[in-house]
Amino acid sequence: MKSKLVIGNWKMNQSFEEAESLATAIQDEIAEIHLQTEVVICPPFPYLELITDLADEANFYAGAQNCSQFNNGAYTGEVSAEMLVSLGVEFCIVGHSERRKYFGETNAIIAEKVNRLMEHELIPVVCCGEQLEDRKAGNHFKVVETQIQESLFHLSKEEIEHVVIAYEPVWAIGTGETATPAQAEEMHRFIRTLIEKKYGTEIAFNTYIIYGGSCNAKNAMDLFSQENVDGGLIGGASLKAADFVQIIEAAETAVCEN
Ligand code: 13P
Repeated sequence: MKSKLVIGNWKMNQSFEEAESLATAIQDEIAEIHLQTEVVICPPFPYLELITDLADEANFYAGAQNCSQFNNGAYTGEVSAEMLVSLGVEFCIVGHSERRKYFGETNAIIAEKVNRLMEHELIPVVCCGEQLEDRKAGNHFKVVETQIQESLFHLSKEEIEHVVIAYEPVWAIGTGETATPAQAEEMHRFIRTLIEKKYGTEIAFNTYIIYGGSCNAKNAMDLFSQENVDGGLIGGASLKAADFVQIIEAAETAVCEN
């Protein structure tokens, strides 16, 4: 059984002081646990160095929430993959539904971002997930398939091995309405089968497919116990150290029980 992956996405929250005390509290609490679970913290850009500095001694990695689809140059307000690497960042979320909705990110833009991350040996955490209307209409598998094909399936076998996929049904993000463990498992299995058909069984098995959308300390264990759920991408509950650590503990237990 492979270890789980738990990623905290702080989104656009926290002052610098709050970020510092949250990160330190997480560090202190997970220092006590002998972790098999991989933990990543994705703060807003201005706080990344805080996390990369702590990550040297702590049991977690630093991740960004986004990067530019361009290399360094005249792109005011953007942050490149090259800059992230120079800070010691190792993961980067791309294609989050909030980026798709508010910043017009398309699958083609996401594919370019994945390429920049690959060029700089960062691990992309590529988000996919359907809207509520898609699910009601029974189109959820098709929507997710298209997102994955268009943002990832240009990659070679060697490249796809370094990608994490996050299934985040849009109707479950920040709503308190979580996908049931059975719904998550069904979609994760579907995604793994897509990867298997394109890249083979071994790569499909090794690919991390994590779940996001109102995952919290109470429901994490049930979700992480599903065969194809390899961990979680946590929003709101990653802003409270105690809750986030309980989610990490659920990941530890789920691995042992599987
Ligand atoms: P919530 O956990 O707040 O629903 O957010 C999920 C998410 O979007 C993580 O990227």
